[in-house]
Amino acid sequence: MGLPSSSSVRVRIAAVLLTSLVLAGVWLAMRCTSPGLASCSVRTLFGGAPKLDVPYVTTRPETVALMLEMGDVGPDDFVLDLGTGDGRILIAAARERGARGLGVDIDPVMIRRAQANARRAGVEDRVEFRVADLFDTPLGEADVVTMYLLPQVNLQLRPRLLAELRPGARVVSHAWDMGDWKPDDTQRGGGAYVHRWTIPARDGMGEVGSDH
Ligand SMILES: C[S@@+](CC[C@H](N)C(=O)[O-])C[C@H]1O[C@@H](n2cnc3c(N)ncnc32)[C@H](O)[C@@H]1O
Repeated sequence: MGLPSSSSVRVRIAAVLLTSLVLAGVWLAMRCTSPGLASCSVRTLFGGAPKLDVPYVTTRPETVALMLEMGDVGPDDFVLDLGTGDGRILIAAARERGARGLGVDIDPVMIRRAQANARRAGVEDRVEFRVADLFDTPLGEADVVTMYLLPQVNLQLRPRLLAELRPGARVVSHAWDMGDWKPDDTQRGGGAYVHRWTIPARDGMGEVGSDH
């Protein structure tokens, strides 16, 4: 049996390269769409990915508008957007309602995206986006807290919202409620429910259930 010709060696190498490329593409597609992955970047794909308590899902513009309306967001308000993603809620609060605020997300890729979006929207002087764990973020400065998280995350935040926010501050949640702390208002917009709570006066805390 003779040696393979150089052209058949080239064909084999090309076939191996092509197969590797296809397999790499399939792996990349599976990794990028896996729910636990914060975002599809070199860093998150090859290690060092932040652990997400909530997967990235966006709020529709109509729902964002309803959240800001229900939160009665205005130019004097400081909005804290927990799990800000691409920053759409906070950016709309600044652009449409003149508010200032802080958006935090555990995923640095999201924060870079939010910062770029804020620059594009011309509101970078009114909003700040920071890489931070929402569970370590102080809440007390906020007039309005906005969030699209998960039921158990809302429940974990509930005692801190009640303890750290000033009476009269508003909490607006896309989709999820707070267990037996009943919302003051619930509406539907953009195909989703939005709930709003107003922090009661300290002596009214007893009205808000007993287990938070
Ligand atoms: C459902 S998305 C909401 C995105 C955006 N707020 C919106 O409504 O379009 C939840 C976001 O929370 C972020 N997140 C998850 N766990 C977090 C944590 N422990 N601290 C801060 N952000 C977190 C995710 O990276 C994701 O961007």
